[in-house]
Amino acid sequence: MHHIHYICQKSKLLLMLCCAIFFCINGVGQTTSIPHLEIKNNRTILIVNNQPFLILGGELGNSAASSREHMQAIWPHLKKLHLNTVLMPVYWENIEPEENRFDFSLVDGLINDASANQLHLVLLWFGTWKNSMSCYVPSWVKKDYERFPHTTGKNGKSQEIISAFSNEALKADCKAFAALMKHIKQIDAAKQTVIMVQVENEVGMLGPAKETIPAALKYFNSNVPDDLMKYLIENKDKLVPELRNKWAAAGYKTNGTWEEVFGKGLSTDEIFQAYFYAKFVDEVAAAGKAEYDLPMYVNTALNRPGVLPGDYPSAGPLPQVMDIWKMAAPHIDLLSPDFYNPDTKYWCDLYTRQNNDLFIPEMRFDSSIGAKVFFTIGHYHSLGFSPFAIESGNDKVNTIIANSYSVLQQLSPLILESGVSNMNGVLLDKKNSTDTLAFGKYLFKISHDNTLGWNGHKNDSLWDAVGAVIIQTGEDEFLVGGSGVVINFLPVDTTYSTGILSIENGSFNNGVWHPLLHLNGDEDHQGRHLCIPLHDWDIQHLKLYRYK
Ligand code: DGJ
Repeated sequence: MHHIHYICQKSKLLLMLCCAIFFCINGVGQTTSIPHLEIKNNRTILIVNNQPFLILGGELGNSAASSREHMQAIWPHLKKLHLNTVLMPVYWENIEPEENRFDFSLVDGLINDASANQLHLVLLWFGTWKNSMSCYVPSWVKKDYERFPHTTGKNGKSQEIISAFSNEALKADCKAFAALMKHIKQIDAAKQTVIMVQVENEVGMLGPAKETIPAALKYFNSNVPDDLMKYLIENKDKLVPELRNKWAAAGYKTNGTWEEVFGKGLSTDEIFQAYFYAKFVDEVAAAGKAEYDLPMYVNTALNRPGVLPGDYPSAGPLPQVMDIWKMAAPHIDLLSPDFYNPDTKYWCDLYTRQNNDLFIPEMRFDSSIGAKVFFTIGHYHSLGFSPFAIESGNDKVNTIIANSYSVLQQLSPLILESGVSNMNGVLLDKKNSTDTLAFGKYLFKISHDNTLGWNGHKNDSLWDAVGAVIIQTGEDEFLVGGSGVVINFLPVDTTYSTGILSIENGSFNNGVWHPLLHLNGDEDHQGRHLCIPLHDWDIQHLKLYRYK
C-alpha cells in the first residue's frame, strides 16, 4: 500500500504544483488559482476560487441540457433544493456538428444561466462513449464507420460502440474535447462556474468482454506492455486482490502475452480491454488538461454480482481493474462509482482503495438519498455527492435532498476543515440499525430512530434509511447533523461513566453558530441520549463529560 500511496502522493503533489502555477485574474482583478485538488489534513479537497468546496450536486437527466429554454425553470428549482453544483452533459454531436466546425452557443448559454443562478457546473463529456455506446458522437463520425471502426458484438455484427483501438476516433475526440476545454477556459476561468469535468460516461465493453476486431487482437496476442508490467512488478504486494490473484494464479510471470500473464478467461479479456480504454480516455483527458487543467474523473457502471464480463459493461473503471486504470490513466484524478444498487458501503469501501478519493457523481434519487449523503461525506470524506435526474424528483425526495443539503451546506466549512480522525458518518436502516463510532475518549452508539420502542414504528416492515455526520470540534464537544438518529454515549475508559453537559440545536450562518433551543428533558430523554427524530433535520451542538 505504501508504495502506491507514495506514487500517488507524488503525482498529486506534482498536480498541485502544476495547478498552483496556473492562476487567473477574476472579475475584481484579484489573482485566483483555477479549481484544483489539494491535500489538507491528510485528505483531498477541491479548491474553487481559492476556497475549499464541498460539491452538493445533482446530475441532470441526459437530455435536459439540450435546450437552454427547457433549463430556464430548472435552475431556480435546483437552487431551492440547496444544490451548489449541477452535473451537466456536453454533447459532442452538439458542439461539433460538422468536422472542425465548433458551435459553443448552447454551452455558453447554459454556463451563463447556471452562473446567474449562483450554481457551479461539473461538465460531463459525452464523447466517444456514453454508457458503453457511441450514441453522442456526431453524425459525421457515426456514418464514417470505416474511418471510425465499430466493435463487434457476440453475434459477429458491428455494434454502435466505437473501437478503443481506433486512432482516428481518438484523434477526433481529443480535438473536440481540447476545443471545449480551451473555450471553457476563455469564457469561464475568471468566474469558475465550471469546477470539474467527467471524461466520457460509463465506458464499458458489451457483448464480448474484449474487442475482437483485428486491430485489437493484434495487441491481445502481443506481450503485456512494459509500462503495465513494470507497475505490476513494482506494486506486487499492493495490487487489489482481485488483480493480484489472477497474476498469482498464472505464476507471477514478468513478461508474456495477456493470457500468459493473467491466465485464459473473461477476466483477462476485461483486464486487457481496461488497459486500452484507460489509455484512450487518458489521452482525451490529457488533451483537455493541456488547454485547461481542471480536475477530471471517470464514472463507472457497477457490475451486478453473478453477471459475467461482457454481460455487464466491462473494463470500465471497476474495482477489479482499478490498478489498471490508475496506472494507464494518470490524467484522471478520480475513479467514481455510479450507484443504482443498494450496497453503498460495500462499493465505497472498494472505491477508497489505491488512494482513490471518493466522489459520487450519480446516486439513484430515492428516499434513501439523504442518509447516503450524510454517510458518504461523513465517513468517506467524499468530495461531493449527486443524485441522478435531479430535476425530476417527487416531493418526498425533493424535501429530503433540500433539507440534507441545507444541513451540509451549513456544516461545510467544518467538514472541509476536518481530518480523518475527527469526522465520521453513519447510514442506518432496518437491517443495520445501530453502529458504534469512536471519538477520542467517547464511543457513540448510534441507532435508527425507529429502534425507540415508544415512537410506534419499531414493527413497521420498511424503515426509511437515516444518516448523520458527526464532527468532533473539541475534546468533549461535537456537532451532529442529520436525520432519524438516536445517540447514546459510552466512555472508552470504562472506569468512568459518560453524561451529557448540554445539547443545543441551531444553525450556521456563514460559519457562525446561532443557537436556537436548549434541548433537555424529553428532547434528550432526560440526559440519556441525543435525538434527531425521523423526518426532522437538525444540527445539534453537544457537550459531554465523564464522571465516577
Ligand atoms: C448511468 C448513466 O451514467 C446516466 O447517464 C444515466 O443513463 C443513468 N445510468 C440511468 O438512467
